[in-house]
Amino acid sequence: MLALQYIGHSAFYISNSQAGILIDPFISGNPKSVFDINSAKITDIFVTHGHSDHLGDAIPFSKEFNASVFAVFELANYCMSKGAKAHGVNMGGKIKFPWGSARFLPAFHSSSTPEGGYAGMPAAILFEIDGVKIYHAGDTCLNCEMKTAGEIYKPDIALLPVGSNYTMDIDEAITAAKWLEAKHVIPMHYDTFDLIKADTNDFKTKIEMLGKKCTIMRPGETITIK
Ligand code: NI
Ligand code: MN
Repeated sequence: MLALQYIGHSAFYISNSQAGILIDPFISGNPKSVFDINSAKITDIFVTHGHSDHLGDAIPFSKEFNASVFAVFELANYCMSKGAKAHGVNMGGKIKFPWGSARFLPAFHSSSTPEGGYAGMPAAILFEIDGVKIYHAGDTCLNCEMKTAGEIYKPDIALLPVGSNYTMDIDEAITAAKWLEAKHVIPMHYDTFDLIKADTNDFKTKIEMLGKKCTIMRPGETITIK
């Protein structure tokens, strides 16, 4: 069974019998997140960029669960400097795992460490697990790299930010869903703060008008993918 849990903000947990993959684990600093860390198995941690609402608990969890943090080179080095296990990659880098693969792709945003240092480029990450391709857009505006990702990789599921201010908004995310050619879309990066409030029911209606599936997930909710 392949399951996808929404933790809140841009944090997700993907699991099957082998893997427990944590993405952008902004948990202890986010009062709206829901995740039972004690009953989860954590094998790998992915971080799209260095902002604290994405790096989150990656460093302490790496130490606690002896799991590597996979991130862009400079951010991985930062994690290692803080005592975490980390593996640095850059755009286009594909990492193979017993459970599948992850490829880092461009996002248009900024990225810095919690101290304001350079953290390399921000990323989107394309996961392939149990034959399912899941695209986590990270923080980004609408950008035509998504057309390339759609043409070449054809993700099955797209996790897209919709909250605006720091990322694209609902209307841009609808175009992103089209360009990515994703059949199933899940919004993220909204309602955590007042600045990123979004009407996800409007988003769902518009995504469904494209003939695509849209799931609005509550923090803590899990869906079975396969
Ligand atoms: Ni950010
Ligand atoms: Mn963010």
